Amino acid sequence: MSQPTIESILQEKRLFHPGAEFSQNAHIKSLDEYKQLYEKAQADPEGFWAELAEKELDWFEKWNQVLDWQPPFAKWFVGGKINISYNCLDRHLTTPRRNKAALIWEGEPGDSRTLTYGELHREVCQMANVIKQLGVKKGDCVGIYMPMIPEAAIAMLACARIGAAHTVVFGGFSAEALKDRLEDAEAKLVITADGGWRKDAIVPLKEQVDKALQTGASSVDNVLVVKRTAQNIHMEPGRDHWWHDLQQGASGKCPAEPMDSEDMLFILYTSGTTGKPKGVVHTTGGYNLYSHVTLKWAFDLQETDIYWCTADVGWITGHSYIVYGPLSNGATTLMYEGVPRPSNPGCLWDVVEKYGVNIFYTAPTAIRALMKMGEHHPNARDLSSLRLLGTVGEPINPEAWIWYHRVIGGNRCPIVDTWWQTETGGFMITPLPGATPTKPGSATLPFPGIIADIVDAEGEAVTNQSGGYLVVKHPWPGMMRTVYKDPERFKQTYWEHIRPKNGEYIYFAGDGAHKDEDGYFWVMGRVDDVINVSGHRLGTMEIESALVSHPMVAEAAVVGKPDEVKGEDIVAFVTLEGEHQPSEALSKELKQHVVNEIGAIARPSEIRFTDDLPKTRSGKIMRRLLRNLAAGQEISGDTSTLQDRTVLEKLRGGA
Ligand code: WTA
Repeated sequence: MSQPTIESILQEKRLFHPGAEFSQNAHIKSLDEYKQLYEKAQADPEGFWAELAEKELDWFEKWNQVLDWQPPFAKWFVGGKINISYNCLDRHLTTPRRNKAALIWEGEPGDSRTLTYGELHREVCQMANVIKQLGVKKGDCVGIYMPMIPEAAIAMLACARIGAAHTVVFGGFSAEALKDRLEDAEAKLVITADGGWRKDAIVPLKEQVDKALQTGASSVDNVLVVKRTAQNIHMEPGRDHWWHDLQQGASGKCPAEPMDSEDMLFILYTSGTTGKPKGVVHTTGGYNLYSHVTLKWAFDLQETDIYWCTADVGWITGHSYIVYGPLSNGATTLMYEGVPRPSNPGCLWDVVEKYGVNIFYTAPTAIRALMKMGEHHPNARDLSSLRLLGTVGEPINPEAWIWYHRVIGGNRCPIVDTWWQTETGGFMITPLPGATPTKPGSATLPFPGIIADIVDAEGEAVTNQSGGYLVVKHPWPGMMRTVYKDPERFKQTYWEHIRPKNGEYIYFAGDGAHKDEDGYFWVMGRVDDVINVSGHRLGTMEIESALVSHPMVAEAAVVGKPDEVKGEDIVAFVTLEGEHQPSEALSKELKQHVVNEIGAIARPSEIRFTDDLPKTRSGKIMRRLLRNLAAGQEISGDTSTLQDRTVLEKLRGGA
């Protein structure tokens, strides 16, 4: 195949059929089988999910109602008793899976560890007993701020085991962001590590926890610290405890607490269109089922597969598809602490070769970065074990798709482009690899049971190529239940933007998309003030409020600018207070300020100082114009509502 060229998604016509052998052995073997499942689920969603819940999961007590739908609030498997830690561990122990590798872990410096289901169960029980001893009870919330080490998964499963909700905070978030999340969740305990390895340096996680607790989060009584990097850290007497000390005396037996199907399993904070991240709430039974079945069918998980998802446990992808989905299926899940870095650009392929990985799941931004590093890295390794490749996080451009397929997949692995969100709990639009012909750049068709559509602002179906808003028209088991402590915000954000005339509630995802003549969905990206940097969601308002919290900043407007590798990059337009003057030093300081407030993922690539921001007569910042400017494009569209037209001229000339 020749070198990839720039192609437009709208002109993409290539079709890739599943291989005959792949289809024969797959859970779902043909497009007809998919269609039958889809129609069955559409005709009777409750019956469809109930049948799967019965077949795929172990329940302590059966539900008495499949779905209680009080729009937009859903309850699934009402009255059912279940524990996800039990489904991920205990039930496998009475089968040959007892001695199967549950978790394979590879550390960045090259150390590694494998835990069988038996061993993982024992460690989870030990940690569950330890956190109980530290006063955590059913219904409490525990913060988890960890590097990518087995104890991160162990901590999540330990919380779930005793009925404590967890909130995992990505290790790249700053002390300030950690504090906000711990406060909102009213966490009683934080589980962390002394540090983690990232690009050959130590990320000082415990130090960040100390800072967070110095300035707030007074609900936290104890900190449990895993030793990973072994540098000197401060241990606050009475508050901080080493995991290895407490583990020694802890029993390896701890029965899983029977939870109500609708008990909260976790809160995960995600960016939205306002300044404050929202706590997405997922509950137990429905989430367990949904993460389990979607992984099984979309990645065609088989008993002997070694499965590797490169996400961090701090994101929903890590929750559903490193920890809960794979373990509930009794699979072998691989966890890697490192990322490609100058000292080892081929590290991902070393891991594939070392463990004979069969299923590999990553993000378009990673694929584009790997493309840039050159084919010689993957070509120098044996990647023949791979049989399926997944992608998530943003629309994948066809050239990256084709490269992934050819260079990593050896033209034989199906590419499974999964569209979903923190809010949806699991895959929503995705090929089923033995059934669905794929098109580069399209996430293809909805998962059975998911009634997705593209509509206009009135909720009317849109069929033309220019597309509309991506919505979901029927509740599904993995959907978020609410915004933590803010049901009104849940309602407004997801269910009230689009109100069809018939008064029905439909879920608005925040993405724009169009459908082609085969009914394939092509997701185009966010239609709200959320930008997607390297597959991470960031609210422009969130970064703006970080900037204006700096004493020299008067006003800030943040927009995304197209970037070849990251998808989008952050550009901030800033006006200064009083007599302060723009300078290179101040620009650096403001970037660092955002890093301190949120984390390195939110660092603006560019700060543009300006005397004024373009606003409408009602005072709304016209981000659309700033996006054009940031991208170096001509201003497009209507500028008649602009309050002061000279602002634009100044921005064009002077920035
Ligand atoms: C985007 C990640 C196109 C989308 C699981 C969505 C995608 C947001 C895809 C959710 C995909 C995710 N194709 N866009 N396959 N997957 N997105 O909550 O804009 O971190 O709304 O969940 O990522 O990001 P989140």
